[in-house]
Amino acid sequence: MSREVAGAPPSTLMQQITGFMPAQVVYVAAHLGIADLLADGAKSSEALARVTGTHAPSLHRFLRALASLGLLDEIKPSQFALTATGAHLRTDMPGSLRNLALMFGGEHSWRSWGDLLHSVRTGESAAQHIYGLDSFEYLAAHPKEASIFNAAMADITREVARAVAATYDFSRFRTIVDVGGGNGTLIAAILVGAPALRGVVFDLQTGNAEAPQQLAAAGVAERCEVVAGDFFRSVPNGADVYVLKSVIHDWDDDRSVLILKNCRRATSANGKLLLVERVMPMRMQASPSHQRMAMIDINMLAVPGGRERTEAEYRALFAAAGFALAQILPLSVLSGRLDVSLIEAVPV
Ligand SMILES: C[S@@+](CC[C@H](N)C(=O)[O-])C[C@H]1O[C@@H](n2cnc3c(N)ncnc32)[C@H](O)[C@@H]1O
Repeated sequence: MSREVAGAPPSTLMQQITGFMPAQVVYVAAHLGIADLLADGAKSSEALARVTGTHAPSLHRFLRALASLGLLDEIKPSQFALTATGAHLRTDMPGSLRNLALMFGGEHSWRSWGDLLHSVRTGESAAQHIYGLDSFEYLAAHPKEASIFNAAMADITREVARAVAATYDFSRFRTIVDVGGGNGTLIAAILVGAPALRGVVFDLQTGNAEAPQQLAAAGVAERCEVVAGDFFRSVPNGADVYVLKSVIHDWDDDRSVLILKNCRRATSANGKLLLVERVMPMRMQASPSHQRMAMIDINMLAVPGGRERTEAEYRALFAAAGFALAQILPLSVLSGRLDVSLIEAVPV
């Protein structure tokens, strides 16, 4: 019997059609530093136009748009204050999302999403198509964008790291390598929770350049080496546990298996491999969680050229690299609004 599928209500579809508009408004607010400028209290649109060097009548309209989104409050005509939500665009705010807004609304990601049709037609990353570089080659050539990318990753990872350290017992290991570990946010949290553990943050020079400061700030610098290298060639040898957060989802299956094989070569028979990734459902539903995961999956398609994977797809990757899946532990992050799991695999 055929099942009737109800169409999306028009208001939902309208929001989806115009969804790019608020995203770019938030990006421009982050770029201009509006939230930082309002951190000390309300200001007039004229005053904000002077300090941001913008066209005053247009900035006024723009600030009204931010008020309509609930990021500013128009406390009296032409006078704007930050709301609690808008405050999360401040640079110095714990839980700041400014870098994330700069990353997603910035040129590389924005233009790539604009060329999504190319990715769907060909399977090729739109970013690769536009720039002729993979995402990490692009970042290596654009240090300012690399710094925003690393900071955005760290801002999200800070939330995830707490959950990883609380969910998994790292105190039984002597050594850990965070492969593609960025600025060390994850390994710092793990080392803080396991005082006898020693670690290595392994990444490209552009990825882990800011790790020494991060590790020092967490008080774990003397227990953690910062090593630059290419995980397609090799990873540091002989650790008890290899952790890769948001790394495998950047790559297609062949490249992912190459990274995992290098981890397999480096680890002992008793070693562990931990991935921190989304686990895609076998069947999609129109739910907020599935929508978040699917949008990030499409981001992986259009920008780095990777993918989010189902449990079965992780099992297949592990089998091809000499590992077997041991367990999947869903992590509770941001009250369940970040749908990530800890995926443990063991050598076979
Ligand atoms: C999406 S980021 C994740 C960073 C960090 N694990 C986190 O979750 O915050 C992917 C990381 O992989 C690193 N990476 C990319 N290509 C690499 C390569 N060939 N060798 C080592 N690291 C690489 C990037 O520099 C970046 O730090």
